[in-house]
Amino acid sequence: MDISEKISALKTEKGVTILAHYYTPLGVHKIADRIGDSLGLSKIAKNEVDTDYILFAGVLFMAETASVLNPAKTILSPDKSAGCPLANFLSGDDIEKYKIQYPDIPVVVYVNTTAETKAHTDICCTSSNAIKISQKIAEEHNTDTILFGPDKNLASYVRDRTDLKVISIPGLGNCPRHNLFTKMDVVNAKNTHPNAILLVHPEAPPEVQQMADYIGSTSGMLNYVHEHENDAGYIIGTEIGLMDHLIWKNPSKKFFPLNPKSLCENMKKITLEKIYTTLKSIGTPEEEQFQVKVPSHIAQKALLSIEKMIDYS
Ligand code: 13P
Repeated sequence: MDISEKISALKTEKGVTILAHYYTPLGVHKIADRIGDSLGLSKIAKNEVDTDYILFAGVLFMAETASVLNPAKTILSPDKSAGCPLANFLSGDDIEKYKIQYPDIPVVVYVNTTAETKAHTDICCTSSNAIKISQKIAEEHNTDTILFGPDKNLASYVRDRTDLKVISIPGLGNCPRHNLFTKMDVVNAKNTHPNAILLVHPEAPPEVQQMADYIGSTSGMLNYVHEHENDAGYIIGTEIGLMDHLIWKNPSKKFFPLNPKSLCENMKKITLEKIYTTLKSIGTPEEEQFQVKVPSHIAQKALLSIEKMIDYS
């Protein structure tokens, strides 16, 4: 048996659902029960998992979200050191300081935050629902202003597409893998691949978003490719893992990276070997090191923010 077959057998034997984000290595996509974007995975974790264990193949904040939504289930992360530099831009204490500076202004945070940060917010959002969530929470608070963090580029995406005054907190927050895209990358890619369609994630800088044919989440890009034929191909402006998935699912179509350096080392920490080790640990004393636990006083508050997002989207 190869490692993928061993994982499949163990997964069934131990009663585990494997959820994976598109940025993990392709081998992980192939053994996962479900693959999705941040919003899709949160919804699946909440409504569609009937096993006692969820193994989350993604960065730690995603596993935390699954844990907050499923306090009765055991959530496992194959590598708890797989963090998110964007999430590190904003803590709960930071938010409390902004609340003093801007009293009565609702706080919206990107799902790419720790549970501790989410516990200090009114609502969270993902790239696929950021506009709708921001408008709804402003309406609920009878205001035209929101605090939005930690991604300055996603904040700008919301600002440019609504009538809201969007105050970006902390102001400079960004995903280093999306923030590296430049106008020159677009010019070079379009020169090399004329007539290719440019798809860009809203975490990319605004000047790059402005040059895109489509802006959306990872799932949004996948849907776009399924729905639009283009013989000249597609230039993909997000983390490189989505390219691998697109090529796997669309062997007859052509894909080009906007910048091949857009690689998230944290997502790539989630390997088949680590998944196998994690599954083997279930029911042994080693299991505890893979368990993702959010203290209940934090989880209860973070849950309100996450559930409100799911209800509103
Ligand atoms: P998506 O919701 O588009 O999958 O974004 C996930 C993410 O973490 C981007 O950095």
